[in-house]
Amino acid sequence: MAQLLITGGAGFIGSHTCLVLLEAGHQLLVLDDFSNSSAVALERVAELAGTRLQRAQPTLEAAPDALTLVEGDIRDAQCLEALFASAKAFGLPIQAVIHFAGLKAVGESVQQPLRYWDVNLVGSQRLLRAMDQHNCRTMVFSSSATLYGYPSPEQVPIPETAPIKPINPYGASKHAVEALLADLARCSGAAEAIQASGGGWRIARLRYFNPVGAHPSGRIGEDPNGIPNNLFPFITQVAIGRRPELTVFGDDWPTPDGTGVRDYIHVMDLAEGHREALHSLLRADPQMLTLNLGSGQGASVLDVVKAMEAASQRAIPYRIAPRRPGDAAISVANPSLAAQQLQWQTQRSLTDICRDGWAWQQANPNGYGDGCR
Ligand code: NAD
Ligand code: UFG
Repeated sequence: MAQLLITGGAGFIGSHTCLVLLEAGHQLLVLDDFSNSSAVALERVAELAGTRLQRAQPTLEAAPDALTLVEGDIRDAQCLEALFASAKAFGLPIQAVIHFAGLKAVGESVQQPLRYWDVNLVGSQRLLRAMDQHNCRTMVFSSSATLYGYPSPEQVPIPETAPIKPINPYGASKHAVEALLADLARCSGAAEAIQASGGGWRIARLRYFNPVGAHPSGRIGEDPNGIPNNLFPFITQVAIGRRPELTVFGDDWPTPDGTGVRDYIHVMDLAEGHREALHSLLRADPQMLTLNLGSGQGASVLDVVKAMEAASQRAIPYRIAPRRPGDAAISVANPSLAAQQLQWQTQRSLTDICRDGWAWQQANPNGYGDGCR
């Protein structure tokens, strides 16, 4: 059992990962500002894990439980200091951080670059500083396949060695955090730095491809704010009747059916990938892992439409529109390094993704509900 800090743990990927980590016997402190999530997600995680959700201030008035939720911002240095110090005072020092908290909407990042750099980079840097000050030097970081920009066809499936060419402020901010983490890993490779700081860093930079789907219970899932930007939640909302039709962005891409191809990864596979990355770091010497988390399988927009029609037994009307600016034709992972280093690979298919995503959408037509945020 390890005492973990999960930033952004109320969000889509964070909530599913919290469940997997609770089931693995870890004790979790979640820090979230609810800017894009609801505490209801964590109440449901607690229910699925057979525990209760304890709410606390950053000063932790009582010893943390299996799942403790603290409302706060990763940019708030005082909040971070209080959290690390209080956990230590209760004899449960934070041993590792899984860092999900951040902003992730590509289009919004183009409109609001300062906000994106502030939350994603400044927030990460404050968190890393608090960790360093408290001798907590193990981090699993949410990076993204967006770093690969527009992969050229000969690079697909994309290995971790492919050129890094972020094409928007969101991707640039993820790239900057990756660079900061690489500097920390390098500095902890030097003997004098290890002596000065009291130990080296254990870091995993996980580059997710397209996380979708939901826990098979239908109790937790993705709950985007407003009109979804991403294909999968848009399709489930068309299937349930919340939106009249899907707009397919381009049928003239150089792909088998002309629509964009992506590597969709079931969020439970992704959550299990985090568990394996964490366990790998905790049992090894200081190191840095940089891994693609994807299935290695490509699916086109029309493949996803068909799979969701089969899962929901409903027609999904769509119309073809021009290409969306900034899109790539194909993005598919080469996931062999993660298989080799973590003994992890995806277990769930596109059919499973659509079945579970549809179960979530049907049981929760309005997500976690109005007024929950
Ligand atoms: P999400 O928005 O559902 O979760 C992010 C969580 O962080 C939310 O609960 C939000 O309230 C919280 N948060 C945001 N700013 C915060 C702050 N300043 N302080 C504290 N909490 C804050 O997103 P997600 O899909 O679960 O993504 C998790 C991480 O994975 C993000 O860093 C994202 O960039 C990365 N990622 C996501 C995808 C994807 O397609 N979903 C792909 C690649 C990488
Ligand atoms: N698409 C449509 N109609 C829609 C939405 C999307 O046809 O309404 C198409 C896109 O053109 C693309 C495919 O569906 O071909 C997937 O698009 P998404 O928006 O779901 O996903 P992206 O691959 O564009 O990007 C997502 C996240 C990024 C992240 C990337 C890799 O939005 O932040 O996956 O993880 F970096």
